Amino acid sequence: MTHGASAHHRSDGPQAGHAGAPSHDDLVDEKIIVCYYVAALTFLTISMLAGLLVALQLVHWNPFKGTELLSPGRWRMIHTNAIAYGFLANAFLGTLHWAVPRLTFHKVFSKPLSWFIFGAWQVVVLSTAFGIVLGPTFQDQPWILALAKKWHLPMNLGAQGLEWGETPFWIDPVALVGLALVAVNFMVPIGKSKGPMYVSLWYFMAAFVWTFLTYAMGNLLPEYAVAGTSAGAIGGLFIHDLVGLFVTPLGWGLMYYFVPIILKKPIWSHGLSLVGFWGLAFFYPLQGIHHFLYTPIPMFLQYGAVISTIAVELVVATVVINFFGTLVGRGKEFFDNLPIRYFYTGMVFYFITCFQCALQVTFTFQKLIHFTDWVVGHAHLVMFGVFSLWLFGIMTYLFPRLLGRPWWSRSLCEYHYWLSAGGLFVMFLDLTLAGIFQGYYWSSLQPWDASTNGSQPFWITRVFAGLAMFAGLLCFLVNLWMTARGAEATDPLPARAAGTPTA
Ligand code: HEM
Repeated sequence: MTHGASAHHRSDGPQAGHAGAPSHDDLVDEKIIVCYYVAALTFLTISMLAGLLVALQLVHWNPFKGTELLSPGRWRMIHTNAIAYGFLANAFLGTLHWAVPRLTFHKVFSKPLSWFIFGAWQVVVLSTAFGIVLGPTFQDQPWILALAKKWHLPMNLGAQGLEWGETPFWIDPVALVGLALVAVNFMVPIGKSKGPMYVSLWYFMAAFVWTFLTYAMGNLLPEYAVAGTSAGAIGGLFIHDLVGLFVTPLGWGLMYYFVPIILKKPIWSHGLSLVGFWGLAFFYPLQGIHHFLYTPIPMFLQYGAVISTIAVELVVATVVINFFGTLVGRGKEFFDNLPIRYFYTGMVFYFITCFQCALQVTFTFQKLIHFTDWVVGHAHLVMFGVFSLWLFGIMTYLFPRLLGRPWWSRSLCEYHYWLSAGGLFVMFLDLTLAGIFQGYYWSSLQPWDASTNGSQPFWITRVFAGLAMFAGLLCFLVNLWMTARGAEATDPLPARAAGTPTA
């Protein structure tokens, strides 16, 4: 393993001066990256609209009152699934098609396989959405029930009753085959690579193996093999490992790739990058049961989860220190360079998330905040504040390169950043505070209504914070549309800032 990635983009990459090295156009299939990004942004839009719908329901402004198929109970699950599998997975897969060939100097194993995986993954995400909308069984939709009877279909074709594992049982094998093919498609170029084994590649390889195993464990074991508290323990592992062993290694792997390239300097400490990787590998898989503290799951497992959660915070601190060490001497980039600003804002939010986690995982804190909106605030901070901001930074950097022209509007790029980061920060503070209030309402044994009424100001604030985040996304989409159409740039970014292919 060596320092963070040092592959470079087209204009100054090693390809340029590297005798015999394949060119960017030979290595990278740009079309599939654009398709993955378009799919990702489509699912993000749907997910955010679903989030707004649920948020409106909680302040009694549900615009679709009485329409069962649009009920917030169903759309809350669409909100979370569309984010994890529709937005994050698609955006990561697209970016890997850029990063892996450029790091290894080898194409993905097979281009047709890449397109097959792309199609299969959209089928997985859409089937999950249909499964959720239709309900766990067909019993509650008479017209589908009639069709199912007519075609002799089993009755449980809808969503599975597993948190984050709502994907219908019949689509699980497709998803697993898809994940195995993803691993083959990217591991082959990594295996062929004669160059240094960059830390990014370590994270990617780990993610390919872990994601497959995590998905299999979380979707198959509670469904077929274990029940009761054992299934609960596995469910806890699954939901946490999805964040820790799928999203986190891909996210950090990409940071180790893009930050050195954009800052044009190596990662500060090779040793710290090793500590970060192995610490994540060792401590993360042990944490999942911290989602179910104070349950009948054996206490030694609960205490083990608490201790390994606190341990991982030390690891996280080393990774964040390493990236800030890398920024030393280039601090100006934080202000001038939009992707760097996205990346480092995400890292600050990452540190806050993990610091918060080390506190909230203790039994003392859990007594107050368990099941409250504190947890929802925490979930948004990590999923949007960290990983989505990183992906927005990556897209801000890559779209001009993929489309071959600068962003149409620099102001819209800036609005996207400020509305996303600002809206998220307000939502996080608001829900954290709401959680503390809710905890005290509940522990004072006041009637349930007291806590829901007391939550209204916080829930109203969430609607406006969510609208700001959604407005940010709209700015990005309009900007992307105008850029893709080839409209003349209104206020192009200067060379050092994101967007121009020469940046
Ligand atoms: C338009 C902006 C958004 C709004 C208004 C919104 C609103 C909501 C609401 C109302 C819930 C349900 C909370 C509950 O059950 O009490 C929720 C859950 C969740 N949202 Fe969002 N959301 C938004 C954007 C996002 C984005 C962009 C992400 C991820 C990138 C995200 C990730 C999540 C997660 C992970 C949960 C589950 C939280 C948990 O189970 O603790 N949300 N959101």
